[in-house]
Amino acid sequence: MSLLYEGKAKRVFNTEQEGVLRIEYKDEVTAGNGAKKDSMSGKGRLNNLITSKIFSILKQKGVESHFVEQISETEQLVRSVEIFPLEVVVRNVAAGSICKRLGFEKGHQFEQPLLELFYKKDELNDPLITDDHVALLNIATEEQLSTIKEQALNVNRVLSELMDDMNLILVDYKIEFGITEDGNILLADEISPDTCRIWDKETKENFDKDVYREDTGSLIDTYETFYKKLEEL
Ligand code: TMP
Repeated sequence: MSLLYEGKAKRVFNTEQEGVLRIEYKDEVTAGNGAKKDSMSGKGRLNNLITSKIFSILKQKGVESHFVEQISETEQLVRSVEIFPLEVVVRNVAAGSICKRLGFEKGHQFEQPLLELFYKKDELNDPLITDDHVALLNIATEEQLSTIKEQALNVNRVLSELMDDMNLILVDYKIEFGITEDGNILLADEISPDTCRIWDKETKENFDKDVYREDTGSLIDTYETFYKKLEEL
């Protein structure tokens, strides 16, 4: 079946089923908008297994997504949606870019979840944007943006609880949304240690891509350990 799109970490293919796409997770790992890049055997498998498991758990807890089913170690079927060019970031604890941008100390606990919007545009380096920019750029209507924010914060409640059950802290994450042909807004893309910051509650050890970004450990071992914890739930 034909390749529709190839990104840094995934390939998206058409299927014979109308409205259903096949996603293949690749072994490539990048950081800093592609500034750092490597191939790691087994990374695609882990992110596919983890994303499939998390989307399945979210569904059991009433959070719908584009996920249909996992069909192999590195592939899953999803509903076809048109992705909004938005990276929706939710932060519970300060880390990463917000420390550099606003001077928060790493580990600072926010009183309430902070939601940020970034415009998905590689050539502009995915800038932080406001609701007014979203309207000006015709990215989403006011009503659609309001639904996206509501869903993103709902994901935060469910995912934070899940991590808490695993003795972990959901520090922050990035999610994306799409719209179906009939106008429904659906959680899409992936939820994995590539797209979240996850810390051990006691030791604050990372279970996410920061081990690669900061060169502090083996990405594959880290993701494998996180996957085992998820499986033990
Ligand atoms: P940041 O601190 O670099 O802004 O990242 C916030 C969260 O979003 C973190 O969990 C990593 C995730 N993220 C992505 O998944 N993709 C991206 O392109 C960026 C910039 C962040």
